[in-house]
Amino acid sequence: MTVTDRDRIVLDPFGADVHAESARLRALGPLVPVELPGGIPAWAPTGYDTLKALILDARVSKDPRRHWRQWAELGEHPSWGWILGWIGVINMLSTYGTDHARLRRLVAPSFTHRRTEAMRARVEAITTELLDALDEGGDAVDLKATFAHPLPLRIVCELFGVPQDMREAHVRLVADIMDTTDPSPEHTVRVQEQIGSVLGGLIAYKSEHPGDDMTTELIRVRDEEGDRLGDEELLYTLLLVIGAGFETTVNLVGNAAVALLRRPEQLAAVRRGEIGWDAVVDETLRLHPPIAALPLRFAVDDITLGEVAIPAGDAIITTYAAANADPARYGADADVFDAARAADDHLAFGIGVHRCIGAPLARMEALTALPALFDRFPALRLDTGAGELRQVPSFIASGWQEIPVALRG
Ligand code: HEM
Repeated sequence: MTVTDRDRIVLDPFGADVHAESARLRALGPLVPVELPGGIPAWAPTGYDTLKALILDARVSKDPRRHWRQWAELGEHPSWGWILGWIGVINMLSTYGTDHARLRRLVAPSFTHRRTEAMRARVEAITTELLDALDEGGDAVDLKATFAHPLPLRIVCELFGVPQDMREAHVRLVADIMDTTDPSPEHTVRVQEQIGSVLGGLIAYKSEHPGDDMTTELIRVRDEEGDRLGDEELLYTLLLVIGAGFETTVNLVGNAAVALLRRPEQLAAVRRGEIGWDAVVDETLRLHPPIAALPLRFAVDDITLGEVAIPAGDAIITTYAAANADPARYGADADVFDAARAADDHLAFGIGVHRCIGAPLARMEALTALPALFDRFPALRLDTGAGELRQVPSFIASGWQEIPVALRG
């Protein structure tokens, strides 16, 4: 089958209703030609089995330089430039084979279950501090700004030694990268400049002020073992791990809180001990994955799945939200939040060699934050007034812009 541009489904760059979009795509088949912001063509696997098979297929690469047919054409499409913030940056997320293994090995040992456990006391202390501050304040607050956001941000900034006065710039940069609604060359240039100034600024600062943190350690590796980590790789590894380290977990905590506040019967079952917090976190990851989709992978060879053939060199977008809500895997009520199903086989953290290195940390943070929040404020409720909650403007990140609540009911 030859795909023309007319056959492509244009993905909503705002990610306004990921579930409705996933259902529409799924109805078209297991593998659907789509168009990303700016007109970038890609294949979207719509079902659980198809996505899993493609991620695990050794003929699927993450290296655009070697395996994307359209890499050389990028200059001809000014509105495609935004994708470089995701695939043009050289770190473990955008490499394949031995380069990937080398870059992943540099940071993965710092995120094992054992190392994560060592951070638990700090996560608990910050959680208590944030809840104390809420306790002392007024009733109406934005739960995202006051709780879900600062906890993961502080943890990752402490891990990487990001000084207080540089944190806001990191937050703005990551929000700009996640915002997929403006594929203009101006936005792309702004993001590229920000990456240089924000992460370059951090590297310069930590070179002058080394500490007991991961940025200092990565700078040491670059300086003393140059063949393991180059200059650009250092910059982009920091961008990936710091960015992924907070933005995703912010949305995990926020999405879980909103899901429970919208389903009081589930919250009551959790309070009675009939449903565990682990199951709440897994159901949130399944149905409201903080990374709804991720650009991009590339077919190294022609790949045939069922009746569809992906030609070598074509791009593939991994659509976790669609796969995780696949009725063929999770039943007719796959689009319903039901923590009692305790499905821990979702793909929200990916699978295979690129599986999320921060999964244990993200889980530990959520499993600390959520019970503490609902214990401290038993009457917590959403307080959106007449308005609706607004999604962050992204088809990649999935979470709420603000979460207005009444703390004391
Ligand atoms: C709820 C929170 C999180 C979610 C939903 C999430 C999601 C993901 C997903 C889907 C991937 C797989 C990418 C792929 O297959 O191409 C991934 C990879 C990755 N994640 Fe996470 N992540 C989370 C938290 C974190 C945290 C806390 C960190 C670090 C502190 C982190 C660092 C990374 C890194 C470095 C990779 C790249 C791994 C590789 O390519 O080998 N993530 N994450």
